[in-house]
Amino acid sequence: MESEATQTAKGVLWINGELGDFQTAQVSLEDRGFQFGDGIYEVARVYQGVPFMFAEHIARLFRSAAGIELAIPISGDKFSSIARELLNRFPSNGAEIYIQITRGIAPRNLLWAEDLQPTIIIGVRPLRFVPPALRETGCSAITLPDERWARCDLKTICLLPNALAKKRAARAGVFDALMIRDNLLTEGTASNVFLFLNQTLVTPAADNRILHGVTRGVVLKLARERGYRVVEREVKREELYEAQEVFLTSTSLELMPVVKINEHTVGTGAPGDAQRELLSAFRCFVREHTTQRDLELS
Ligand code: PDD
Repeated sequence: MESEATQTAKGVLWINGELGDFQTAQVSLEDRGFQFGDGIYEVARVYQGVPFMFAEHIARLFRSAAGIELAIPISGDKFSSIARELLNRFPSNGAEIYIQITRGIAPRNLLWAEDLQPTIIIGVRPLRFVPPALRETGCSAITLPDERWARCDLKTICLLPNALAKKRAARAGVFDALMIRDNLLTEGTASNVFLFLNQTLVTPAADNRILHGVTRGVVLKLARERGYRVVEREVKREELYEAQEVFLTSTSLELMPVVKINEHTVGTGAPGDAQRELLSAFRCFVREHTTQRDLELS
C-alpha cells in the first residue's frame, strides 16, 4: 500500500465534482472513453505555480468538444477555479494540468443518447520528464506514415496511431517519429514541427492535418516579433533533409532540436541558432506570462 503522501505526490484530481487522485479514482467500464475513445483532452503546463496559456488551452478544449459534438456542461471559468483549487492542494513549481472529457457512461452502442452526462476529469500531476541532455545535444527522429484520421486538429483521446509511432521510434532507438501524409510533413507524435530553411522559419499550416499547438502559436508570434521570415504552408518530406534546423514544439518539450532524421544529419548536427534564440525568447515570454492573472479567462 502506498502512503497518502506518496499518492498526493503523484497528483490530485477532480472527477465529476469529487476530489481524488490518479491512483485510486475510477470510471465505469461502460464509459465511452474506455469503450470507443470517445473523448477529448488538454495538457497545460504550470510554471512557478501558475498555469501558462490556460485560456488558450481551454479555448482549444471547447473547439475539440464542438468538433466531436460534445457539449461541455461547465464553463471555462469553472475549469479555472477547479484548477486553482487543485494547485493549492498540489503546490509545485513545475506541474501539468491534465483535462479529459468523455461523452459519458452508457451500454456499449455506437449510437449515443442525447442525455449522457460527460465524465470530466481535471488533474494536476508532476511534469513528464524530458532528459535535459537531449536539449543540449538535440534528439534524433525517424519519419513514419501518418496513420491517423482526418481531424487531427481535434485533441481527442484516440491516440493509438500516435502511441504506435512513438513505440516504433523507440524501437528504432530514436526520440520521436515525424509523421508524413501524402509525402507532406504533418507533426511529431505529440508535438508540432518547425524547419529553418533558407533563412525562413517554415511550419505546416494549421489545418485539419495537425493539432494547432499552443506552443506553436507562441513560437510563431515570437519569431515574427523578432523579424524572422515566417511561412505556414505545406512542407514536403524532402525539405526535412534540406533544412538547416528542425525543431519540435509542445507544452512538455517547449522547443526541442532535432539533429538527425533517419540517416540524415540536420544542419551541423547540433542545435542551431534560430532554435536557441527562439527557446530563450520563449522562456522570457513564459516568465512574463506566468502571473496570477493568467488563470483568469476573461
Ligand atoms: N501534446 N501535436 C500533437 C499531436 C500533440 O499531441 C501536441 C501536444 C502538440 C503540441 O501542442 P501544444 O503546444 O499545445 O502542447 C502537437 C500534449 C502535450 C500531450 O499529448 O501530452
